[in-house]
Amino acid sequence: MRIAILGSGSLGSLYAALLSQVDGVELLVHGRGSHGAHMAANGLQLAGLESFFLSHNDVFFSLEAVGIPPHSLGTIDFALLTGKAGQTPHLAGLAHQLLNDQGMVLCLSNGLGHAEQCIEILGPQRVFAATSTHGAWRPSAGCVHWAGKGQTVLGSLPGGPGELEAKLLLDVLSAAGLEPAWSSDGLAALWKKVLLNIAINPIAALAGVENGVLLRPDLFSAAFSTMLEGATVARMERVALPDDAELEQQLRQVLTATSTNICSMLQDIRAGRKTEISVLNQAIVVRGERAGIATPLNQMLVAMVNALHVE
Ligand code: PAF
Repeated sequence: MRIAILGSGSLGSLYAALLSQVDGVELLVHGRGSHGAHMAANGLQLAGLESFFLSHNDVFFSLEAVGIPPHSLGTIDFALLTGKAGQTPHLAGLAHQLLNDQGMVLCLSNGLGHAEQCIEILGPQRVFAATSTHGAWRPSAGCVHWAGKGQTVLGSLPGGPGELEAKLLLDVLSAAGLEPAWSSDGLAALWKKVLLNIAINPIAALAGVENGVLLRPDLFSAAFSTMLEGATVARMERVALPDDAELEQQLRQVLTATSTNICSMLQDIRAGRKTEISVLNQAIVVRGERAGIATPLNQMLVAMVNALHVE
């Protein structure tokens, strides 16, 4: 199976490293910036829960500054988009060039709206809903640290491929230790992940702490209340969510499993990058306003995270 990882930051590099260990998988790993350049020049080091080195003999590293290799065009079975939410249209365009006739795409980025962007560029018949709760961060360029074992959920979207079409990929993800699960309601799966991110990311980023610190009762209560505001908006949009007790349990479980992880928003702030607040808490505020629902906690977190970030 030929897989392309497009937008290989922390999460993409983790998926690249683990998928490279599966027999029969050929990988194209596309990155940018100093991390991408380091991988292309020297390879990729995985550290944390598992530790090994990935060289040019194991995968093909390509660089945004150079472009995708012409010999890969039209050859890829599955493209995994793992970049920041703002990169999705560009990465979906690359996927469009790389995929073979039956090829399919999944976008593991945080936030709301990226599946729709993929559908616009590739058509609904090629797009799965997908989420990941694996925790990964980059201690230095060319190195990714697997800080917490999570799950990879794949699901179907209206007019999109189903479990049968996902079967081979689910098997490969399982062999890689990426803990795949199938959801027949891809939209609910995307929202469940967004609710975790709106609860965890801005609070961990503002407090400057690893995810596990949010298990402290005062911070947990702030995170869960933020999550419930988002859940109210989702339910108004007729998304089939589990009840509040189960949402609380999922939040606790992800914080525990990724307790030593530095969440992506804190990584962005520390690196001086734009955060994903606009597709997370800001998206909740906008959708809440549309539905006439007040979301003051999310609104306050948006203002505070934006105040931290200087363009
Ligand atoms: O954005 C992140 O960091 C991740 O989605 C998660 C699961 C919250 C782990 O830190």
